[in-house]
Amino acid sequence: MRVDVVSIFPEYLAALDLSLVGKARTSGLLDLHVHDLRDWTDDRHRTVDDTPFGGGAGMVMRPDVWGRALDDVMTPDAHLLVPSPAGRPFTQRMAEELAGEQQLVVACGRYEGIDARVVEHYAGRGRVTELSLGDYVLNGGEVAALVVVEAVARLLPGVVGNPASLVEESHGAAGLLEYPVYTKPASWLEHDVPDVLLSGHHARIERWRRDQALERTARRRPDLLTALDPATLDRHDLEV
Ligand code: ADE
Repeated sequence: MRVDVVSIFPEYLAALDLSLVGKARTSGLLDLHVHDLRDWTDDRHRTVDDTPFGGGAGMVMRPDVWGRALDDVMTPDAHLLVPSPAGRPFTQRMAEELAGEQQLVVACGRYEGIDARVVEHYAGRGRVTELSLGDYVLNGGEVAALVVVEAVARLLPGVVGNPASLVEESHGAAGLLEYPVYTKPASWLEHDVPDVLLSGHHARIERWRRDQALERTARRRPDLLTALDPATLDRHDLEV
């Protein structure tokens, strides 16, 4: 998969050299390019923004600079992603869909955002998604670009060493939060690992983990429980 990130702070994306994403890049599974938006400015000051029409606080990013950048970077297959607190919530389902794309282009806005005609223009020519990390305001789209690239890259075949670890995690197929996990030592500062996990009884361990996932989800994310397909619940689930 090819991913292009366009930002006025390309150094922000340096973390994508590290860990699993960094390895996916060196192994060729992820062809990632980070660009400086100012390379597409045409004035001495390398201006990317201007005051908003209609007045108001802050600055808005100019459509002409973004247009030149995106025309250069986007292939005809590109899916353009524009992080914004006004976007659709970014979810694991969205990450799964994006993992099937040929090219993702992330346009990182700053200030009060990007002139709305940019999304309008590219939506008329291909796929564009404005996405939000959550209900809070960040200073720009760079953190969202890091989040999206990491969430998508780990779904690409070959990036995560053991694909089984993708199956049981939170927001996975079960639609539940993940159960709590433990490792050695079995006793730490008077906190003991639950006995069942030391029992070697596979069926009981599975049941305990499922109950924990259900309880956690009910307490922390009741919205996920209501959204569950009842067909995915077994007889014991309803007793938890
Ligand atoms: N840019 C600013 N705030 C954001 C958010 N919550 N999600 C995505 N991009 C943003």
